[in-house]
Amino acid sequence: MYQPNLHQHLIKKFHEAGIVQNGQDVDFAMRFSANISMIHELYSKMYGHRADAESWYNRILTTIINAFKERSEILRKLDLQKLDKGIWFLSNEVVGMSFYVDRFCGSIKNLEEKLDYFDELGINFLHLMPIMESPEEESDGGYAVSDFRNVDKKFGTIADLRSLDDKMKEKGMFLMLDIVLNHTSSQHEWAIKASEGDQKYQNYFYMYDDRSVPDGFENSMPDIFPDSSPGSFTFDKKSGKWVMTVFNHYQWDLNYTNPAVFVEMLDTIFFYANLGVDILRIDAPAFIYKAIGTTCQNLPEAHILLQLIKHCVQVATPGMALLGEAIVAPKEIMKYFGTGRFRGSECDVAYNATHMALQWDALATGDTRVMLAAQHDILQKPYGATWITYTRCHDDIGLGYEDAMIQQAGFNPFEHRMFMKNYYSGKYRDSVAKGALFGVNPKTNDARISGSLASLCGLEYAVEHKIQDLVDMSIDKILLMQAHSILLGGIPVLFYGDECGYTNDYSYLMDRAKSYDNRWMHRPIIDWKKNDKRKKKGTSEQAVFTGTKKIIEIRKKYPTFGDYNNIEWMSPHNIHIAGYIRYKEADRIFCLFNFSSKDVQITWYAFREKGCKQGMELQDLWSGTEYIVGNDNQHLDLKPYQFVILKEA
Ligand code: GLC
Repeated sequence: MYQPNLHQHLIKKFHEAGIVQNGQDVDFAMRFSANISMIHELYSKMYGHRADAESWYNRILTTIINAFKERSEILRKLDLQKLDKGIWFLSNEVVGMSFYVDRFCGSIKNLEEKLDYFDELGINFLHLMPIMESPEEESDGGYAVSDFRNVDKKFGTIADLRSLDDKMKEKGMFLMLDIVLNHTSSQHEWAIKASEGDQKYQNYFYMYDDRSVPDGFENSMPDIFPDSSPGSFTFDKKSGKWVMTVFNHYQWDLNYTNPAVFVEMLDTIFFYANLGVDILRIDAPAFIYKAIGTTCQNLPEAHILLQLIKHCVQVATPGMALLGEAIVAPKEIMKYFGTGRFRGSECDVAYNATHMALQWDALATGDTRVMLAAQHDILQKPYGATWITYTRCHDDIGLGYEDAMIQQAGFNPFEHRMFMKNYYSGKYRDSVAKGALFGVNPKTNDARISGSLASLCGLEYAVEHKIQDLVDMSIDKILLMQAHSILLGGIPVLFYGDECGYTNDYSYLMDRAKSYDNRWMHRPIIDWKKNDKRKKKGTSEQAVFTGTKKIIEIRKKYPTFGDYNNIEWMSPHNIHIAGYIRYKEADRIFCLFNFSSKDVQITWYAFREKGCKQGMELQDLWSGTEYIVGNDNQHLDLKPYQFVILKEA
């Protein structure tokens, strides 16, 4: 869509900025021209009604141009290499880990020495949990940022981060950092100035003199942390105003109806891009736009803002992909990949949170029907976009999948969720899972689940009760869960500690700044002596580490495991078994997982109906066993929590 007036305007901007006509600049100029009409359209939808719309529009263009001017030669080259490679993040070779730098190894400097550890496990994509400056106590694990451009001194410096990134790039590793778009810490300079009465900065937030507007908002806004931080507004004594604080009372929501906020944050996005970030994790994007009378989540304007960001980024720093951390139902999550004309032009990556929760559902019930019922929606993802697949992360497990899916599987949604909560919080008599309820809402009975992968799989219980069979079973469950998500399609991101089977850490209860938030139970402090046990035969650390490493190796060996929307689910011949087929050209790999505690069987017809001939050989890449496809009344047997990765010979 060529629009001469917009184009001309842009050429003028290039002259003003003194951009010379060398190769990269021409590429940039062409990208800009190709995107300018969309940028203008999206901008106008958001801010076009304002008297000062044109001057803010100009500011956005200048911000994009400056971002490109400041981009290093190396990053510009990498941008072009990535563009040449096709969509780099769909590859089967990308496998990630998410971790808190301080709890993992102390500092960013120390992290350089740990790069070999990641190599050993097969990890080449690192998500450093928030490292920007955040108050010591009221920090929400770093998601309350007091300075978006300064690394918190407890982790190191910007120079350390640059040096780490250089080392990572030499090794061909990728970096993910967070941008917390939705809010700042109450200690951020903008919030402090607003609190002191500075009107300019009060306009950066939602601040009101009395409760009338806040009450209006709260009528339809659900509580995010109902037990520890109920309500969505906090009274700020200094300014005498009510401030919108959707998450914790010390996280002030930014007001994107103000274009100044958008420009500031776009510039920050580029600051991260120019640090060398490969994927930017946009924290809580579902919340960035608010309107009275709505839930203030997933609003159309939030999508417009994200699309606008995407178009700006693909002009100046195209090597940086965007991950939208929206933990919402499947129908809503699809919208974060863009809709209508903008399908495929919003976020590149999203968390497959529904599937993550459904793995936990299947593990508790031993029944895969709800998981299967959700696939129709999950499979709507556009080609070229991808998922983060995971079993655990720093957050709780939300049971946010839709009631209709539970009903379709034949269960009562209320009772089913109640069972899940009881099962994982240890209330259910027969459960070996040790977790806790998080975010309990007494009004709605909703709750989410905290707990580490190992503890939720029963390792903590088994060790406490010294029952070796249960230890072995919990390790089987851990590996089943990891294999299921690592092979599913998307970028697998492991949560640190899970590779060595860390159980819950209850020391957070002794820390005033953490005790109100039980998500800290599954955010371990790494004890490297424990991790060294990965080399000692017979330990659970060794079993979990070598098993996880092997699953990663299998994924990395076969391009079939890349994410090209190349997954097909097997028919449910046995409700305990989840089976999916990964395919690419002529290659097919059948992945089957027994989520139950029983010996189960599946008829070979399940394979024959997918085109496998009787007598055909299938090799299990996991155990090395060879199987021959039998006739309809013969079966493939699976032990409790066993999985197979069957490659057609
Ligand atoms: C995201 C983070 C979560 C944090 C919240 C508020 O959901 O993952 O840890 O509490 O945003 O920033």
